[in-house]
Amino acid sequence: MAEPRVSSIDGKLAEEFAAPSHVDEVKEKMATFARRHAEAGRRVVLITSGGTKVPLESRTVRFLDNFSSGKRGASSAEYFLDAGYAVIFLHRHRSLHPYSRTFSAVNMLDTLQFNAGEVVVNQQVLPNIAKVLKRYREVTDGKLLLPVDFNTLSEYLHLLKAAAQALSTIGSKAMFYLAAAVSDFYIPASEMPEHKIQSSNGPLQLTMNMVPKILSPLVKDWAPKAFVISFKLETDASILLEKARRALDTYRHQVVVANVLDSRRGYVMVVTPTSQDEVVLSKEDAKNEVEIEERIVTNLTAAHDHFITQQAG
Ligand code: PMT
Repeated sequence: MAEPRVSSIDGKLAEEFAAPSHVDEVKEKMATFARRHAEAGRRVVLITSGGTKVPLESRTVRFLDNFSSGKRGASSAEYFLDAGYAVIFLHRHRSLHPYSRTFSAVNMLDTLQFNAGEVVVNQQVLPNIAKVLKRYREVTDGKLLLPVDFNTLSEYLHLLKAAAQALSTIGSKAMFYLAAAVSDFYIPASEMPEHKIQSSNGPLQLTMNMVPKILSPLVKDWAPKAFVISFKLETDASILLEKARRALDTYRHQVVVANVLDSRRGYVMVVTPTSQDEVVLSKEDAKNEVEIEERIVTNLTAAHDHFITQQAG
């Protein structure tokens, strides 16, 4: 019997990135979740969300992080749920979460008050709480949302691989929506100092290795039938489209959502091998609190429909 294909990235993952101890357990949970929903006629989207933490010492005092709040992933999860998808939400620990994200800036104690000795919610401070809570309960009672958290780059890489393998059983019904901001650089465990780097040694110079592009084995080996969307973030708008096209060319997946750091809440480009759609929020949209993720999700669920029909034909 032929051995399953092992890419060089698989080897690198095993050698240089410590797998979290619960990875097999989480993989089983994700596989069960995907199977159950696919059998019920639902599609399943795996959303990655938030930044990754890259340690500089093995007994970590310091690490490199990035700007990502997780807002894109958390709000998109809600719109995918509204569109009838089941959602695996692979997110950075303590980044924004679907539903509770709306209240992330509020101090919990300011939302509560005493009423005849009982603690009750002050709905003036949380005007949408009843609506949000109702939807959250529907989603959790229906077991439609599976949150899985990660902290470090290593955890992210291993859990994404596990998710891809878990979802491979449902073929084209699976969508990958890779909105996390993943570090491109890391220090291999073998080169990392064990103890806290001493400032008494003078200025710090770091040499970091390149993180393997996980998109490559995901598309080719781990979930080859799935509908895959990567994101491309730049700060220079003039190179964005070219970079998105190059990513599609290199990885051969279906869609790149391209965005610029400063304008990402109001403008993105949805790029496929044959098209490019601008998704823009108008001033009117902003006034009505429309979120760009709602438009992105509408665009992508239609593209996923089309993809599934093509695969079946
Ligand atoms: O969280 P918010 O504050 O709401 O911000 C949202 C966002 C700007 C983070 C999001 O919209 C976004 O653009 N996410 C991707 C940012 C990013 O990492 O871009 P990139 O060009 O470095 O990576 C491109 C793609 O390659 C990503 O989809 C990533 O999943 C994938 N990748 C990256 C590194 C790596 N080692 N392997 C990968 O497969």
